[in-house]
Amino acid sequence: MGCCHHYFAATEGGEGVFSVDVSSIAYGPGALREAGEQAKALGIGRIALFTDKRLAALEHVAIVKTSLAAAGVDVAYYDEVRVEPTDKSFKAATKFAEEAKVDGFISVGGGSVIDTAKAANLYATYPADFLAYVNAPVGEGRPVPGRLKPHIACPTTSGTGSECTGIAVFDLLSMKAKTGIASRHLRPTLALIDPLTTHTLPANVVACSAFDVLSHALESYTAMPFTRRTRSRTPAERPMSQGANPWSDLGCREALRLAGKYMVRAVTDASDHEAREGLMWASTLAGIAFGNSGVHVPHGMAYAVAGLVRDYQPDGYPDDEPIIPHGMSVIVNAPSVFRSTAAACPDRHLEGAECLGADTRGAGEADAGEVVGARIVELMKPTGIPNGIGGVGYGSADIEALIKGTLPQQRLLKNAPMEIGAEHLHTMFEGALSYW
Ligand SMILES: [Fe+2]
Repeated sequence: MGCCHHYFAATEGGEGVFSVDVSSIAYGPGALREAGEQAKALGIGRIALFTDKRLAALEHVAIVKTSLAAAGVDVAYYDEVRVEPTDKSFKAATKFAEEAKVDGFISVGGGSVIDTAKAANLYATYPADFLAYVNAPVGEGRPVPGRLKPHIACPTTSGTGSECTGIAVFDLLSMKAKTGIASRHLRPTLALIDPLTTHTLPANVVACSAFDVLSHALESYTAMPFTRRTRSRTPAERPMSQGANPWSDLGCREALRLAGKYMVRAVTDASDHEAREGLMWASTLAGIAFGNSGVHVPHGMAYAVAGLVRDYQPDGYPDDEPIIPHGMSVIVNAPSVFRSTAAACPDRHLEGAECLGADTRGAGEADAGEVVGARIVELMKPTGIPNGIGGVGYGSADIEALIKGTLPQQRLLKNAPMEIGAEHLHTMFEGALSYW
């Protein structure tokens, strides 16, 4: 902890204020049964319920429907959400939202479902050309004009954190690239989090989600300190990705501790409810942490890794087309990235490793990158994660294309603790080809 005081030291012209924005949260076993009363309390009389085809058949959606009906809330039902959404699927969801004439939204699902509801809410409330609100330089990056309709987000995987963030991610089909929309107004009004939803998840989904959590926490913890960002002229101009800050640190450390403790147990034994529910709490903590700090290079590289997929098809996911699940596309880069970024803030990398359960006795600053990288690899092996980007189908010949796909993610790359250029990305992708 000795580092933290120093890490947030004031800089000339740098930011002096950090802000904390969080969704309201209702958390606990059975929380989904509150959906109807919560919607009513938000003044919602007719609600758009978003989910995907696979989830539609599970009991979570039925519980939410029953609860809404009992509270007298009228439902417009949409189960066409695409896992790993695209601009095309966002537009279809928007059309539905416009025609449904609702005064609120509820999303039941993983990040794809929650993000789709955010986008539909945005474009139905403030219609605009699709690229208007999309992050620059891919889109115009135009600010969202104002508040959206209330949105209750009910996560059914313990990873995304999307229920607590103002970010919606999708594939822009024409560019074969993942990008997103980021605005405080996109943050759900209420995160309704029921850890019982984790009991029935396939093992591979638990693994991918848990590594997404791990990386959210470790990236936030090692992000550039908020004091190094140029001071924002007004509070409204302060970005959500404001860099590491004392508030986000709290959630990151506990999320890392829980991920390190429970990940292997939760993946290898579906009946270990303590471990699976522990990961849901870790996901919530990491979500409220990175929602206020932002993530950096592993997520930036993940956009390219997922976007350029050729023929990889993991267990536990829809098998109609190749897909590299989000958490997997992040974590295959992570050990290599942290081995490099450790030089910028070794204490934080070492402390992150310690939270994850690594033995850091005798380790010095020069060992920080290796210690944290090795601990992540140690968790990847027993949880069935592929061996680096080579394990999901890439080789040395693909590195240039992967770099090209990563460089536009400037919002993420600029949040790293050191400057990141093409040559750094080359080293990082090369180091991520295989780990064992
Ligand atoms: Fe993520």
